[in-house]
Amino acid sequence: MSRLPGALNHLPLPIIGSPLFIISNPTLVIEQCKAGVVGSVPALNARPAAQLEDWLAEITETLAAYNLANPDQPAAPFAINQIVHKSNDRLEHDLEMCARFKVPIIITSLGAREDLNQAVHGWGGVVLHDIINNKHAHKAIEKGADGLIAVACGAGGHAGVKSPFALIQEIRQWFDGPVALSGSISTGGGVLAAQAMGADFAYIGSAFIATEEARASDAYKQAIVESNSDDIVYSNLFTGVHGNYLAPSIRAAGMDPDNLPESDPSKMNFGGDKSKAWKDIWGCGQGIGAVSKVQSTADFVAQLKREYEEARARLLG
Ligand SMILES: Cc1cc2nc3c(=O)[nH]c(=O)nc-3n(C[C@H](O)[C@H](O)[C@H](O)COP(=O)(O)O)c2cc1C
Repeated sequence: MSRLPGALNHLPLPIIGSPLFIISNPTLVIEQCKAGVVGSVPALNARPAAQLEDWLAEITETLAAYNLANPDQPAAPFAINQIVHKSNDRLEHDLEMCARFKVPIIITSLGAREDLNQAVHGWGGVVLHDIINNKHAHKAIEKGADGLIAVACGAGGHAGVKSPFALIQEIRQWFDGPVALSGSISTGGGVLAAQAMGADFAYIGSAFIATEEARASDAYKQAIVESNSDDIVYSNLFTGVHGNYLAPSIRAAGMDPDNLPESDPSKMNFGGDKSKAWKDIWGCGQGIGAVSKVQSTADFVAQLKREYEEARARLLG
């Protein structure tokens, strides 16, 4: 186990609910935190940008009231995800909002920036940066991130190609700070396995899409329940960066998931309204074979906790 900064210490469960473009929303985040896992939402999900202030007020006030009423079992802290890419023209505004509400954890993606890390530290926040290889991991820590999110192969959204075993063991050769592992984790046993490999936390995304609180269509949730790893396609066509998607949604959009053209990475854009692609083409990781029903976030986290304890008991014999 690493030495963990305040916000990440003593989490009820070693799980971070990862940020999901379009899908994460304050209700999901609040339920994740109340259930004992770090909940997160991309700042870009609040549209227009002014809505972010309302969302941060709602999350902060609801969790503070919950903690007052439940001093023995306080909620886990929450995180806001910032896309640090030149096309994100809202970054400055969104960071200012996070500073105002002293957001405990900032998750940065697609770019490591020293000034941003310093700003977050200025209000006492913790920065976790997501990476898909050891080289980017070094860069992120050199620029002042506190911890890493290792996005291995099989993760939903923009995923890497590295085996989680390779990625974690390379990072642990030089880094003893907080590390979350992501990619196809959908069970409590998977969470324990991530810890056994050297991660502090499991970073779970796709499985949370099939919760009642997630802002996804019923058809999307049902596709997650009915699909498995055979239905996941890895392509860079939709955003310019390679990611994993549900084949049925690609077929429904009139394309052949087995014969997708390559995309031009220079077209990558997070500034304008790029949400349409993600509304129709459903991002999803390979781990959804373990998802058998749509249920509340509280019930799903309770299931993860049960499975985690069962897996630990099994290993201890
Ligand atoms: C639909 C979808 C949208 C995502 N959007 C974002 C995002 O906006 N920002 C981000 O950092 N990661 C995003 N991700 C990646 C997840 O945060 C996380 O790395 C991934 O879901 C973990 O793998 P898993 O889905 O197999 O659990 C997204 C993933 C999915 C499936």
